[in-house]
Amino acid sequence: MSAITIALSKGRILKETLPLFAAAGIEPLEDVHTSRKLIFETTQPNVRLIVIRAADVPTYVEYGVADLGVSGKDVLMEHGGQEMYELVDLNIARCRLMTAAIKGAVMPEGRLRVATKFVKVAKRYFAEQGRQVDIIKLYGGMELAPIMNLADCIVDIVDTGNTLLANGLEPREHMADISTRLVVSRAAYKTKAEHIMPIVKQLEEAVSKRD
Ligand code: ATP
Ligand code: PRP
Ligand code: MG
Repeated sequence: MSAITIALSKGRILKETLPLFAAAGIEPLEDVHTSRKLIFETTQPNVRLIVIRAADVPTYVEYGVADLGVSGKDVLMEHGGQEMYELVDLNIARCRLMTAAIKGAVMPEGRLRVATKFVKVAKRYFAEQGRQVDIIKLYGGMELAPIMNLADCIVDIVDTGNTLLANGLEPREHMADISTRLVVSRAAYKTKAEHIMPIVKQLEEAVSKRD
């Protein structure tokens, strides 16, 4: 039986996560990128990895079925779980959460139509500013929404700015700096600290060596 289960986000984060885990002495026994498996035993017999959609990681950690999780700050902000703690900034997949609109477009006086997959974060942000918005939930390719006049602006991740540029949009308001975090479930933090803390320490060292 594995004592510790760690939930990893597949997609962008995974490519940068695996070298960090390898440096911390945790390597999956099979190729995570080519296998269709979702659970992977590792070089540490008491540690297993589950590899799931980025947005699902906080759910597994919150319910305590994963002890640790690797998740973007954007995903954590949107999830808003109370049952987990952020332990380490892994400092990978760094980007910004921003509003963006068609280059030069003037925003309407009244209600703003905002397309995003970060529904809760966007609602909170505009509410704090006292701006009335209609949020339009999308699952990706947010940049298309203003072009098609589905929305006035978007709330999305910006890294190089190439996607905005390629679609005639421009960044407007900087909402938050984003990077990938190691989170722990409250349950595991209480009951498995002696197993978890050495892993946390090794990952912290791997991060500081790499930076
Ligand atoms: P999915 O593709 O499963 O619907 P997703 O778009 O959230 O979900 P990824 O694109 O793999 O999944 O992004 C994972 C995390 O990487 C995000 O939560 C964010 O923290 C970060 N990220 C997203 N886009 C970029 C980017 N262009 N540059 C750097 N980091 C990014
Ligand atoms: C992400 C994000 C932006 C883009 C930003 O999209 O949602 O569209 O990257 O990166 P850039 O500033 O370097 O161009 P992704 O490729 O993950 O597609 P998605 O919409 O399916 O998440
Ligand atoms: Mg993405």
